[in-house]
Amino acid sequence: MNFTAEKQKWVDTLPDLFRQVFAASEGEDEGKAIGALVTDLLSTTPDEDLIAAIAQDGPEPLGCILFSRLRFDQDPRLVFLMSPVAVRTDRQKSGIGQRLIRFGLDELRRHSVDFAVTYGDPKYYCKTGFHLITEQFARAPLPLSHPHGWLGQSLTGAEMAPFEGPSHCVSAFNRPELW
Ligand SMILES: CC(C)(COP(=O)(O)OP(=O)(O)OC[C@H]1O[C@@H](n2cnc3c(N)ncnc32)[C@H](O)[C@@H]1OP(=O)(O)O)[C@@H](O)C(=O)NCCC(=O)NCCS
Repeated sequence: MNFTAEKQKWVDTLPDLFRQVFAASEGEDEGKAIGALVTDLLSTTPDEDLIAAIAQDGPEPLGCILFSRLRFDQDPRLVFLMSPVAVRTDRQKSGIGQRLIRFGLDELRRHSVDFAVTYGDPKYYCKTGFHLITEQFARAPLPLSHPHGWLGQSLTGAEMAPFEGPSHCVSAFNRPELW
């Protein structure tokens, strides 16, 4: 198994990976919704606003994370949102997810990203350096239905001051039901 950030080669297979993984864990409807989100992210996001981390075993993708730009109107720092995250159902719980997140965060550092946010289970994401953040620290682009899942981490090693002003996600994420 190895890791790559080269997304072009996988554009046709990634939506199906996410659809299958989320159908198995959350049901068919969620599988379809996340598969459609990934198709939308890959087809509508400007290249410089989308970073991928892919675990591969030969021709097969084993897992993938997409990172998309989150812009703060009044703040020059570079922020990316980590979502969604999927590891092939038959390869889960063997450490691939955490290795993939670490690879992805290194990839963000290589692109001089200052801060990563995500929206998910704190118990899992705290294992890779994320911690709870508040909306006073960094405003979410849309209202959060689970504010206790709003997480972030500095990628520079520096303590971060709160982010100024509202934030804007890429268009694929600009849907209230995803938040
Ligand atoms: C969430 C997800 C990405 C995690 O990926 P993963 O590869 O299964 O995760 P890891 O193996 O890194 O860690 C998962 C668990 O296995 C444990 N684990 C890690 N390595 C292990 C090993 N070698 N042997 C046994 N257990 C191990 C971890 O400690 C962790 O334990 P926990 O259940 O107590 O939290 C994956 O399960 C998934 O795709 N789920 C469905 C989609 C989803 O929910 N995505 C997240 C929301 S966007």
